[in-house]
Amino acid sequence: MALRRDLAEWKRIQRQGGLSRRFSKVVSYYGLTTPPYKLDALEPYMSKRTVELHWGKHHQDYVDGLNKQLATSPLYGYTPEDLIKEAYNNGNPLPEYNNAAQVWNHHFFWESMQPDGGGLPEGGVLQQIEKDFGSFTNFREEFIRSSLQLLGSGWVWLVCCTDSSY
Ligand SMILES: [Fe+2]
Repeated sequence: MALRRDLAEWKRIQRQGGLSRRFSKVVSYYGLTTPPYKLDALEPYMSKRTVELHWGKHHQDYVDGLNKQLATSPLYGYTPEDLIKEAYNNGNPLPEYNNAAQVWNHHFFWESMQPDGGGLPEGGVLQQIEKDFGSFTNFREEFIRSSLQLLGSGWVWLVCCTDSSY
């Protein structure tokens, strides 16, 4: 619903000369967030070179690509999460979807790790893992196996979902 309204507004603005001339001082919509630790802080598990590649190259390229798309798009002014939902467009993704999702993925990835992290989860998380996988060891093996089967970086996330239909 919001997308239809925004598309109509975007078309109206384009008929009046477009956004680029009216807002020519806008050069960026989303910024590159910085990992909350030094780039070598995850060694020896993740090298500084790997972090530099995924942050300084991949993440930056997705931010730049998204901002370039948004300069001529009606999808302006959303939070990153809402932008992804709008750009997903009920399963018919708009051009902005991939860049928006990859910006979010990379940010989430940096925030999900910490120096000296790892070890056993605590409390309810550990209980749920043991319930769903039989043991933490089983979960760890399946988690590693899943990541090794993926092409590319092999990022795998464990997600807790309260809806049992997934
Ligand atoms: Fe990456």
